[in-house]
Amino acid sequence: MRVSPQIEDIDKMARDVPAMPVVAQKVMTMLGDENTTNSMLADVLSTDQSLASRILQMANSPFFGTRQKIASISNAVFVLGHSALQSLVITVCTKGLFKNPGLVEEKLWEHSLAVAVASKQIAGTTGLQEPDEAFVAGLLHDIGRTSYVVVYRDAHRDIAMRAYNDDLSMEEIGDLEKEEFGYDHSEVGSRVLKVWRLPDVYSRVARRHHATSVDLIEREENPQAIAIVGQANLIAGRLGLGRAAPDKRIDVIATPYNGMLGLDRDHVLKVVEATLTTFKETRDQFGLPG
Ligand SMILES: [Fe+2]
Ligand SMILES: [Fe+2]
Repeated sequence: MRVSPQIEDIDKMARDVPAMPVVAQKVMTMLGDENTTNSMLADVLSTDQSLASRILQMANSPFFGTRQKIASISNAVFVLGHSALQSLVITVCTKGLFKNPGLVEEKLWEHSLAVAVASKQIAGTTGLQEPDEAFVAGLLHDIGRTSYVVVYRDAHRDIAMRAYNDDLSMEEIGDLEKEEFGYDHSEVGSRVLKVWRLPDVYSRVARRHHATSVDLIEREENPQAIAIVGQANLIAGRLGLGRAAPDKRIDVIATPYNGMLGLDRDHVLKVVEATLTTFKETRDQFGLPG
């Protein structure tokens, strides 16, 4: 019988997850500084050719809606603007964590993308969060699961395959993680995002994205960001994006989040529809290398 890899030091485990490339870290810091100019960003990005070329490739996808072809990294910085560039750098780096992706990695990436897309839609319709920031928060909400895939590949694969084959609910997956590792992915994810030194909003969202108590969420500093991703996560699950099948146990209308966000039934159904359409395009453009 395999011994469970109980985590003794969660912060050490978080540090075992590969950090973002140095250049990406530098760019993230620079994007938080209002004195940063486009040419400074382009200069730094150009020092990492592999990152620059992946950014360029994705910048040209219809997802960003740019009409003319973006031919250089300085052009990309100029055309996309800082917040879209930030979401692109994080997307490229997060995707880079998956080496030799199989079914588990593919489904997890699809789920993360779906939640990112739905979060961006909700932020757009409600005006409660900057849409690119919502996209990143959605993309990173399950980074704890990605971390398990990276650090404890075999042990996590068992859980992920059971979740996939037995159609487990989100709660059941969290319980299995606690049993196997001692922590669920929300806790791990929030630690990893702190180690990565990303803006605090992302680690708060990762920590609380399964919280259903409005009181608890409202005590946090970014309650709306948490509610947006919480709702987006339910929508992705209900649609079956990143799962074997739609999770019919999920009711996307009667959720604690819709009230916090001022979303009524029609709004939610529009978000669901837009998520499905945008997700399909995004998956083709942002998919993992097969
Ligand atoms: Fe989760
Ligand atoms: Fe999730």
